[in-house]
Amino acid sequence: MRKTYQMGVIGAGARGELFARALACGQGNTAFFGLCDLDADRMEKFCRFCGVEPDRRFTDPAKFLASKELDAVFITVPDFAHCETALAALAAGKHVYLEKPLAPTLSQCQQLLAAARKSDRTFYIGFNMRASPVYQKLKQIADSGVLGRLIHVSAYEQMSVAHGASFMRRWHRREARSGGFLNHKCSHDLDILQWIIGHQHRIARVASFGGTNIFRPENGPAGHGTHCSNCPPAIYRDCPYPFVGGFMFPTSEKEAIVKTQQTDIYGNDLCVYTDDKDVVDNQTLIFEWDHGVRGDFTLQPFQRDGVRSTRIWGEFGLAEHIEDLRDGRGSVIRHIDSRRGSSAEYRFSSRHGGHGGTDSEMLQRFLAAIESGSAGDSGVAEGLAASLLALKADESRHAGKVVEISPAEYGGA
Ligand SMILES: NC(=O)c1ccc[n+]([C@@H]2O[C@H](COP(=O)([O-])OP(=O)(O)OC[C@H]3O[C@@H](n4cnc5c(N)ncnc54)[C@H](O)[C@@H]3O)[C@@H](O)[C@H]2O)c1
Repeated sequence: MRKTYQMGVIGAGARGELFARALACGQGNTAFFGLCDLDADRMEKFCRFCGVEPDRRFTDPAKFLASKELDAVFITVPDFAHCETALAALAAGKHVYLEKPLAPTLSQCQQLLAAARKSDRTFYIGFNMRASPVYQKLKQIADSGVLGRLIHVSAYEQMSVAHGASFMRRWHRREARSGGFLNHKCSHDLDILQWIIGHQHRIARVASFGGTNIFRPENGPAGHGTHCSNCPPAIYRDCPYPFVGGFMFPTSEKEAIVKTQQTDIYGNDLCVYTDDKDVVDNQTLIFEWDHGVRGDFTLQPFQRDGVRSTRIWGEFGLAEHIEDLRDGRGSVIRHIDSRRGSSAEYRFSSRHGGHGGTDSEMLQRFLAAIESGSAGDSGVAEGLAASLLALKADESRHAGKVVEISPAEYGGA
């Protein structure tokens, strides 16, 4: 008989809510064991969605992890708490699903890689974009050889205005807490580009530019508040960046817990023009793999639609993907064959569910990885490669020079 895995969630935020709701509804041979968060208010609110018995609510991660029946944990705490929480979970013998990014510093990424290699537990990283049929098709085209030898990959992520602004209001707005905007938000994208090219090849150098062009104190209107909730109505009414819910826990605006004073973690409605942040609001990078393929990536957070796009150029043509979210039109991939002069188009309709339906698949993938006793298709080494590129790009941005990445920094075999 198949074992039923007791799964728990550490971190009662927007991301934890998603996994707890799925577990509470029953998913294959899993059972929802319980929940842990340092903040009792958030846990209380959370339990209204997910019906967790009082003896299965913990405010101390060590006590939660000491529960013998608990087999596996979804770690959905902020990035700055990833390393200590995941190390403690592995040490307690639990299978780990850790949200991206792996960690905010390279030394923490390397500690996690070493611990995962020593452990016999599954350590899965939440790169949900890998579960998207669109990116699977792009990879299949790249791997099939129809593009010939690959030459360059190019991608961007543009965010909607409200989504972009949400990263200026809470813990994400300090590099030390997330490893930077690129590591925090785009480690997905940097993972996908490395996955498409293949992890047998490694990025050897990177250069990056970026800055805070818009969310600067001097761009704020005179007399604005420190928070949306204390901003004079006449100013708030015309602000392009008013606080809206949907990007933080709970994901419905009506229910939002606004902890105005706790700006280091929760913040929520903090003004986007504060002078206490050090993350960029736009960034671009170029990089080169060790076998001569080149790439670039750009992050832009001020647009109407949240959209991603990817292009893969090869010797024999191009595969390009663009999302078109208006009216639920979904995504399209065009393959243009430069030798034959032909083209083919693949359309993908918008799928229901978080992140185009990929979120719900992650739980199944984690479970399959546990059952097969493997690291699954996105383990710590891939998490490290994505964060390494983001962190080295920021090093380049700060130093104003090209930064080399040595093979040893990927953690060896
Ligand atoms: N895969 C994706 O597409 C995706 C999307 C959004 C966020 N994320 C990731 O999910 C993680 C959580 O993001 P979020 O927006 O849900 O955060 P959040 O701030 O909404 O929630 C985090 C929760 O963790 C709790 N917490 C903090 N430190 C803790 C600790 N040491 N032990 C236990 N609980 C602790 C906080 O009290 C809070 O309730 C982040 O790493 C983020 O990068 C991934």
